[in-house]
Amino acid sequence: MGRPGWTLWVVVVLIGDSLAGPYRPDAEPGPLETNNIEELEVPPELDGAMSDAELVPHHYPAQRAAKVAVHYLNTRHASPYSCIELNRVHKASLEDLGQAGKKYRLQISLKECVSNTDLGQCLAEVLFPGEQEQRAPQVQCSCEGLKKLNTRAEEDALFQRLNTSNSPLSGCNIPDSYGNIAPEMKPMWHLGAAAASFVMLKESNESTLYNMAQVANFTQLETENDQLRFKYHILLHDMISQEILHWKLLVAWSPAGGVSVPQADWEPKCHHCELPSAKSTPEATKPSSAS
Ligand SMILES: *[C@@H]1O[C@H](CO)[C@@H](O)[C@H](O)[C@H]1NC(C)=O
Ligand SMILES: *[C@@H]1O[C@H](CO)[C@@H](O)[C@H](O)[C@H]1NC(C)=O
Ligand SMILES: *[C@@H]1O[C@H](CO)[C@@H](O)[C@H](O)[C@H]1NC(C)=O
Repeated sequence: MGRPGWTLWVVVVLIGDSLAGPYRPDAEPGPLETNNIEELEVPPELDGAMSDAELVPHHYPAQRAAKVAVHYLNTRHASPYSCIELNRVHKASLEDLGQAGKKYRLQISLKECVSNTDLGQCLAEVLFPGEQEQRAPQVQCSCEGLKKLNTRAEEDALFQRLNTSNSPLSGCNIPDSYGNIAPEMKPMWHLGAAAASFVMLKESNESTLYNMAQVANFTQLETENDQLRFKYHILLHDMISQEILHWKLLVAWSPAGGVSVPQADWEPKCHHCELPSAKSTPEATKPSSAS
């Protein structure tokens, strides 16, 4: 009946966290605040469980929480030459904290998706805040394998090239409708995906499962404070609702500073709509022509 191995593992999580540094809730309040937690669909065998219910690793609740942990890791570690992908959820449990929300404890394995490197296992905690709190999920992770990520040389080369170029770089439809990405656009796809992870982290709740679908287009802007800056129009796919969401992002990047998203604007779904999003600010608003 007892789960000694499991209990021990939870202790390891806490130690791992304290080594991993301060708690870092990344996301600021943003344009879409949707953190109202609904009843989680709990597998029947867990009905009535009070706390720390074990979850089936390949079922949605565990997978969703694991995805959120991966979005978080991508906000911190992804670059034009690296991205982190979920390989597998090995173990998952859920603790209901009542008003404070729901906490998932996960043992996951990751891989780097550019070089296909195995990044080994990670311990993660994902807290979906309770209904009162309009906040993004909070994530803590401890992953040894992330030390393997080192793309600084390629990043420096790309940065120099783009920083000294006379014509700003732009592109569209990455990948194209056949799923292809031109080799020279790959870093820009990865940068777009890294930026998208900020949105996906912030927008995720227990009933979403976001994936980056496409970079509709991007344009390089003026470099500011030694950060390259881009305007991206990205499409996200929510696998649960099957919705495609449009977001316009201001993306800043440098090898030293990493990726950041100073501004994100959700584009409401209205294909022939002339009105700019009410949430938009001048920076990202453009007179939209019906297509
Ligand atoms: C999760 O987010 C989606 C998309 O923003 C929203 O429609 C849904 O109501 C949210 N669900 C919960 C439980 O907050
Ligand atoms: C980017 O280029 C500008 C000049 O075009 C230069 O002043 C600046 O130092 C460069 N930034 C870096 C980090 O190399
Ligand atoms: C970028 O793509 C979006 C979505 O397809 C489109 O509405 C917009 O006009 C495009 N912007 C540019 C500058 O091409």
